[in-house]
Amino acid sequence: MNILLLGSGGREHALAWKIKQSNFCQNLYIAPGNAGTDLVGKNIGISVNDFETQKAFCLTHQINMIVVGPEEPLVKGIFDFYKNDEALNNIIVIAPSAKAAQLEGSKSFSKHFMQRHQIPTAAYKEFTKENFEEGKEYIQKHSLPIVLKADGLAAGKGVIICTNTNEALKAFDEMIVHQQFGEASAKVVIEQFLQGIEVSVFVLTNGKDYQIIGHAKDYKRIGEGETGLNTGGMGCVTPVPFMDTLFMQKVEEKIIKPTIDGLYKEQLSYHGFLFFGLMNVQGEPYVIEYNCRMGDPETEVVMPRLKNDLVELFVAMEKNNLQNIAIKYNEGFFATIMAVSGGYPGDYKKNILISQVANVLIDKESIIFHAGTKKDNDNIVTNGGRVLAVTSQGLSIADAVNKSKQTLQTISFEGMYYRKDIGFEFV
Ligand code: AMP
Ligand code: GLY
Repeated sequence: MNILLLGSGGREHALAWKIKQSNFCQNLYIAPGNAGTDLVGKNIGISVNDFETQKAFCLTHQINMIVVGPEEPLVKGIFDFYKNDEALNNIIVIAPSAKAAQLEGSKSFSKHFMQRHQIPTAAYKEFTKENFEEGKEYIQKHSLPIVLKADGLAAGKGVIICTNTNEALKAFDEMIVHQQFGEASAKVVIEQFLQGIEVSVFVLTNGKDYQIIGHAKDYKRIGEGETGLNTGGMGCVTPVPFMDTLFMQKVEEKIIKPTIDGLYKEQLSYHGFLFFGLMNVQGEPYVIEYNCRMGDPETEVVMPRLKNDLVELFVAMEKNNLQNIAIKYNEGFFATIMAVSGGYPGDYKKNILISQVANVLIDKESIIFHAGTKKDNDNIVTNGGRVLAVTSQGLSIADAVNKSKQTLQTISFEGMYYRKDIGFEFV
């Protein structure tokens, strides 16, 4: 098969690395990719949202399958674009329809969906400028902390957790009246704060059958001990010790099955990854959010742990055969640590030379997945806030984390920073 993968982060390098190992994969192209994906397949300079140029490429290069990394093309309707075009509709598109992608694209849609299907989630109400005054009263009477969420996609910045009422009123005003996130915050979901430990669970589904392909714990804050500003993710570990059989049974019965049944009943066409962002509240799982894609940096541990041929899973999913495949995992524990640019998640410099990583993908102990990197003649330079994800396998979480830390000591770029405490609760 000729496969086109869309995206340019660490998630896409990990997906490319996994896809390239498949017996089903002949040529792999990544649009637009990064310096790491170009070591695995061939980068092509097409943006993830430029469906028309992608179409021309698919036709000239006999593409059989498209795998979509990030959420934007999903919400913009890439699945429907291919399925509604006679020249393209035999290409397998690993994505949900635009309607189903609203599970990620609209917090309001996903909350209503969960309510319709009795899926445990935080209590909530939603507001627009029409019932703004009612919203203010709701905030004043609400317990603290309180969570405000812009309805639409806001590049990961649309969730604000407030510990006092005035702060919440101000944030609410910013979102609705001053349109802090544009159209995305014309509607705001206000919800109860859930106290617990977060975990990400990943499923592959055709909207009828599903397989769990992994889970991971993500470390989102910039500082050690989970302090400081929120980031896109500073590291991950898998498997997570509290994800035992009993908890996983609850996740499947109370969350995954009702979600897939809900997709089926509502005829929401789905052919891809579904990411359940969960909170473990004293042993009970609640949905914090749905995403219609893999997580980043979760993918950088989930793909190395997954033993199955990923493309074989995609094909089985399309042939309604997913239930007949047994998911297998590699032994041990996996950790990834993100090396980020100095200043991230605030302003940072780009185009900084990265030493020791020129053509390295697999070090002795670790796999180096590129995130924000690009080629500059024969060099590799930084091209984003999150630059490299260094993944290792170990006999324990501590062992895997230590191997990644050792590998990170051999890499450097000006301003490079990484957290040394990934997995700290489990060591
Ligand atoms: P989201 O954009 O929905 O992923 O939210 C970003 C982050 O905010 C989540 O990963 C959680 O850490 C946190 N969060 C969101 N909703 C809640 C909630 N109801 N209770 C506690 N934390 C939350
Ligand atoms: N690591 C969280 C996400 O990908 O949304």
